[in-house]
Amino acid sequence: MDVKKFIERQVEEIKKTVGANKAISALSGGVDSSVATLLAHRALGSQLKVIFIDHGLMRENEPQEVKGTFARLGINIDIVEAKNEFFEALKGKTDPEEKRKAFRYTFYKVFGREVLKSKAHYLVQGTIAADIIETQGGIKTQHNILEQIGIDPEKGFGFKIIEPLKELFKHEVRRVGKELGLPEVIFRRMPFPGPALATRIIGEVTPEKVELVRKATRIVEEELSPLQPFQAFAVLMNDMGTGLAEGKRKFGHIIIIRSVESQDAMTAQPTPVPWDLLTKLARRITEEIPAVVRVAYEITSKPPATIEYI
Ligand code: XMP
Repeated sequence: MDVKKFIERQVEEIKKTVGANKAISALSGGVDSSVATLLAHRALGSQLKVIFIDHGLMRENEPQEVKGTFARLGINIDIVEAKNEFFEALKGKTDPEEKRKAFRYTFYKVFGREVLKSKAHYLVQGTIAADIIETQGGIKTQHNILEQIGIDPEKGFGFKIIEPLKELFKHEVRRVGKELGLPEVIFRRMPFPGPALATRIIGEVTPEKVELVRKATRIVEEELSPLQPFQAFAVLMNDMGTGLAEGKRKFGHIIIIRSVESQDAMTAQPTPVPWDLLTKLARRITEEIPAVVRVAYEITSKPPATIEYI
């Protein structure tokens, strides 16, 4: 693929499609939505509104880091503060699918509100070829997305989805991103699920539990990133265990470390993390997060396990 020609062609196409109208893009901080946003911004400049929905389940400092990265590229991002709405929606939910549903529903509700507010007629999405192949079952069709944000596509409101990367595979998306000046930090990010830290908390998601798993995630990423795993993170169990603090027995939280090697996330194997590093992780997590008294390392492949816990 000729990257320069691809960019030129897409920029022209987006310009032609959007004309004098407005477009909106919701960034997740991942590679695909970042590259799609950069392309659309090159084509549309201030006709493109870029938002980042802060659902309160991101990793440490993530919204600020994403905002900073894009500010350096000359793109302003509006952070849409929606923490309370997400926590309210997740309150009392313990079933994994119920939690995913509550997250998705709230996301589209907030996103839909922003789309209508922006008066945009075009939505920019970072859909790539693999997404289309994987979701031929119908999860990610344009039709569904419009419906999920409360727009009836049959009524012809003029809303359209722009998916400039839909024919590209991940490595090609990265090449386009590099050419557009996307910094290394974005490429080096591990895949991170849409429902974010909610997929790494067993049982009810509360702000306190998110704080624990967020701190543990930072420690796991700091220690395991040099091994360049496909994905490495912390999971907070619902069960608790007894530990010792200042000579006294105390009941505390259990953190599981999950690190996997994979090509495409369809199958995965546990990373053979050196023993010294694992014991260091256990020490750091229990010292830096006193509410955690036990740390375990997950050794299951996918299948039969999935990569995330919910
Ligand atoms: P699983 O847990 O199914 O995950 O083995 C496979 C890959 O997909 C990521 N993942 C998601 N990504 N929305 C996403 O955008 C989601 O709801 C979601 N669930 C899982 C996961 O991190 C892994 O890379």
